[in-house]
Amino acid sequence: MRLVFLGPPGAGKGTQAAQVADRLGIPHIATGDMLRQEVAAATELGAEVQAIMERGDLVPDDLVTDMLLARVARPDAASGFILDGFPRTRAQAEALAEALGEESLTAVIYFDVAEDEIVRRISGRRSCPHGHVYHVEDHPPRAAGICDEDGEGLFRRDDDAEEVVRTRLSVYREQTSPLVDFYEGQSILRRLAGAGGRDAITARVLALLGQ
Ligand code: AP5
Repeated sequence: MRLVFLGPPGAGKGTQAAQVADRLGIPHIATGDMLRQEVAAATELGAEVQAIMERGDLVPDDLVTDMLLARVARPDAASGFILDGFPRTRAQAEALAEALGEESLTAVIYFDVAEDEIVRRISGRRSCPHGHVYHVEDHPPRAAGICDEDGEGLFRRDDDAEEVVRTRLSVYREQTSPLVDFYEGQSILRRLAGAGGRDAITARVLALLGQ
């Protein structure tokens, strides 16, 4: 299975990608997590993208595409993957299609979530440095402020501040939402109603994939 999870910021793509990847035994590849790791490790790429991410804009296509294609070429992705947060522009979608060649995407799952629910989800999100994600009301950790998986302290992402979320939503509408029509035109888009509990949505995703 070669899957893309597409949708606005805070729609639940990362939460579902982690659960579905686990069920299908394929890697969850999240460009946002990869870029945040570059920033945390103070690499050259991290230094280049930090300010862009902090203001909620998109990292240049060539940087993120090179990083993503190198990850997809690793042996653990040979039998499939879930891409979370990539592609986000038409140029990225075309570069991915060209790199995959005849092994084209199996499906693109589009997470359809109302904007007021997105704001509620993002404002309650807490993250750990290794990418585990919680919500203060819907999915709290067992001990407040501590990751259940690795004991790390949880934090609020800098780009989850209200004014940055507004920028991210408008960047999504302008640059990423046209990919819905792009993939619909290829008959591989599957629309998913993103409202509801985490496990119910995972069951919906698996059903859409015939699993
Ligand atoms: P990225 O990290 O990809 O951010 P995003 O797309 O804005 O998505 P989010 O991580 O905000 O949300 P999500 O849909 O994964 O939701 P989640 O599962 O966490 O990108 C960050 C930045 O990196 C970008 O702004 C850009 O600068 C750069 N970047 C990354 N990729 C790029 C690319 N390809 N090109 C250029 N730049 C790129 O859920 C959100 C919250 O809701 C959590 O608290 C969760 O617990 C809760 N929740 C989840 N599901 C449910 C549910 N069913 N019910 C209730 N609560 C729920």
